[in-house]
Parts: sequence; C-alpha cells; structure tokens
Amino acid sequence: MDYLQIKRSTNLKGKITISGAKNAALPIIAMTILAKNRVTIQNTPQVADIKTLIKLLQNLGAKAEFKNSTLQIDTADINSTKATYDIVRTMRASILVLGPLLARFGHCEVSLPGGCAIGARPIDLHLSALEKMGAKIEIKDGYVIADAKDGLNGANIVFDKITVTGTENIIMAAALANGVTKIFNAAKEPEVVQLCEILNQNGVKIEGIATSELTIHGTNKNLINLDEITVIPDRIEAGTYMCAVAITGGDVTIENINPDHLVAITSKLCDMGVECKLSQNSIRVISDGNLKPCNIITTEFPGFPTDMQAQFMALASIADGVSSIDERLFENRFMHASELSRMGADIKLNGHIATITGGSLNGADVMATDLRASSALIIAALRAEGITRIHRIYHLDRGYENLESKLTAIGANIKRLSE
Ligand code: UD1
Repeated sequence: MDYLQIKRSTNLKGKITISGAKNAALPIIAMTILAKNRVTIQNTPQVADIKTLIKLLQNLGAKAEFKNSTLQIDTADINSTKATYDIVRTMRASILVLGPLLARFGHCEVSLPGGCAIGARPIDLHLSALEKMGAKIEIKDGYVIADAKDGLNGANIVFDKITVTGTENIIMAAALANGVTKIFNAAKEPEVVQLCEILNQNGVKIEGIATSELTIHGTNKNLINLDEITVIPDRIEAGTYMCAVAITGGDVTIENINPDHLVAITSKLCDMGVECKLSQNSIRVISDGNLKPCNIITTEFPGFPTDMQAQFMALASIADGVSSIDERLFENRFMHASELSRMGADIKLNGHIATITGGSLNGADVMATDLRASSALIIAALRAEGITRIHRIYHLDRGYENLESKLTAIGANIKRLSE
C-alpha cells in the first residue's frame, strides 16, 4: 500500500491549477442517464470516485471514454438498472443514480450505501421525496428497490434537512417527471447550481436556481439532449491548497477558481492573518506562517463547508491561541483529531465541538481516516518538525488529482512511497 512521506516545508512559491470539482462531476455523470445523446464532459477530475461512478454506469451498459480530463458518456444502451453492493459500498455518492434511473426506466435497484467513517449518513430524505413523486419503495436484502411503472409525477417536496445529493437526486428525478416539482429547503451548493443550470439550458425549465426553492418542469419521460459541459472548479481542492500555503508561509497563486465559491474560506483565512488577493479566476495567497486562532461553525453553503473543517483544524493546531470548531452537519467528523494529536496538537472534543489550543507539531506515523481528514494531515505534516508518514492514502486518491505533483511544484517536500 502507498503512503506519503512529508518533511517540513517553508515558503511555498509559485502557481497551482485547480481541477474540476469531484462533487460537481458526480451528479453531472449521473445526469447523463437522462440524456439521449453521447455527452462530453470537460474538466473532469481523474480521481478514484469519478472512476467508480463511470464503472457503475459501464456495469449498467453505458459506454464511456475518459482521456485526460475529457469524459464522454453514452447511456443509450443501458440494459440493467441494478447498482450493486460491490460498487456502491466503495462510494456513497453512487446513490446519485437512483433518481435518474427510476425516472428513465420506471424501476431500479440500488444497494444501500450504509454508514461511513463520518457518520450514519442515511438516505431517508431521498427515498421519502421519491415516494412523494409516486414511487413505490421497498428495502430488501440491502437494496433499495424502487418502482414507478407509469413514471414519476411532479410533487411538492419539503426537505426536513438540507441535503446536497438528496437535492440533486430529486432534481434529476423531477427533470423527467410528469408535471411540476417544487423543492423547498433545497441545497444551494455551487455543485447543485451547476446541475440546475445545465438542465435549464438543455430543455428542462428550472426556476429559483441558486435559491432554496426550486421549481422543475418535468419533460414527462422525454430524454434530453445535453450540450458539452465543463465542470466547475473544485472549491475544496482550492481551499485545501490555500490552507497549505497559510500554514507553511509563502506566496502562491491558485488558478482556475471561482472566487464566489470561496468566500467563507477566504474570509476565515483573512481572520487568521492570511492575505488573499482575489482576481476573476485566481487567488493569490500570501502568508508568513503565523496564524491567529479561529472560530468555525460548519453549515450549508454559503456558510463554512464541512469539507474544509479538518484542514482548518490543522491550521488551528499551530495558531497563536485557542480556536473552536463546531461541526453541525455530521455527527462523527473529528476522526482526524486523534491523528493530529499524535503529531502534538492539543485538541479537546466535546460532542460536536472541538477546542484547539495552538502549539507546535512534530512528525509522526499517522493514518488517513477519510478524504478530507487525509488533507488535514498533509497540511499539518508540511508544518511539523521532522518527518511525517501518512498511511492509508487511498482515501486521498478518491478526491485529489495529482496532489503530490501540484504540491511539489510549489516547493513542498512530499513523496509517495510503498510500504
Ligand atoms: C455532500 C457532499 C459531501 C459534503 C456534504 C455536506 C457530494 C458527493 N458529497 O454529501 O462532500 O460533506 O454534502 O456538504 O456532493 N441526511 C439525512 N438524510 C438524508 C440525507 C442526508 O439525515 O436522506 C443528513 C446527513 O446525515 C447529514 C446532512 O443531512 O447530517 C447533510 O448531508 P448531505 O448534504 O446529504 O451530504 P451528502 O449529499 O451525502
């Protein structure tokens, strides 16, 4: 198994180009199930989660070609509607095929994704919304078995909680439904917005895009024609590299970003004493490595993203004072705290609140526990005295494209080695 060996790195300098957003590309790939044409998706990140979803679609009978960052998918020949356990268990976001498969074929079976490292993460909201649209749903032998023989009908859906993939699933189901679907308390993440914009530009009228109330005019099972798509930049990848520069000190320009997607992150970095100079599609991050403490509450967009919480915990570990992080979205998303503590961080957990007293970090052997926890350990390792070895980095490969080469290019001392 591979691991990363990282040595303290200071004064990072240069440029990093951000890849396409994994969490935007996933629903877009699932959306190709609604298309009657071969779809071209540009700026698709070459990461494990994307390859997993492509494999899932190929298992159903779709054709896919993925070269560099261009993905072409043709779902015309789908001849199975069963997303099996062996794939779904490796990636929860596989649940994104549920809405489009059901809308197009009137039947599908998708393995229950189960729990994951960061909490139980149920899919009850996805299922109850589909039931409101007329689906009959049964859970049998670990599978969601969904039927809507005469198609799905438009409905009023009120989400009890804001759910990103839940909103995406229902948007895609509603796109082919008979009649109008209204989603109240919809997620407004940029990835949801892109999905809506693409559908809206390709024959599915959607009102209220980027608000919490969406109105989707279904095509009554008419498949759509999708023009070429370019995936938006990955705001979490950008935020991760911004944190790397903040902790090591340096002057790095992060290119191919949308500054509007990064407001919560830049504003916290600014509070911590990091200079962020915004341009139209790049951001220059300047830091002397001395950070002030922060107080963070994770919440839905445009608030502070839970997917950046771990990285900011790494920053807080060396800040000059006491920081607090209140994780409001997931009940078990502090797995990185004990690994950071192995590196000398002073972190006290009380339920969903972490209190971090800044100090110094030392290299150690640590274990990545989930995707974003892995990046927090990298950020900490870049600052720690001595050598850090991060094990189980397959988590990292799920969501970061060319991480080592991007970091090495700006002067970080990071190597991938085999155990
Ligand atoms: C998505 C992102 C993930 C991010 C998360 C929150 C993708 C592929 N993943 O995950 O990176 O961390 O949003 O921004 O886009 N919930 C329920 N019932 C449901 C659905 C969700 O109780 O049916 C709860 C979850 O347990 C969680 C909260 O709602 O506490 C938000 O989860 P949700 O927005 O659904 O996360 P994902 O879409 O899985």
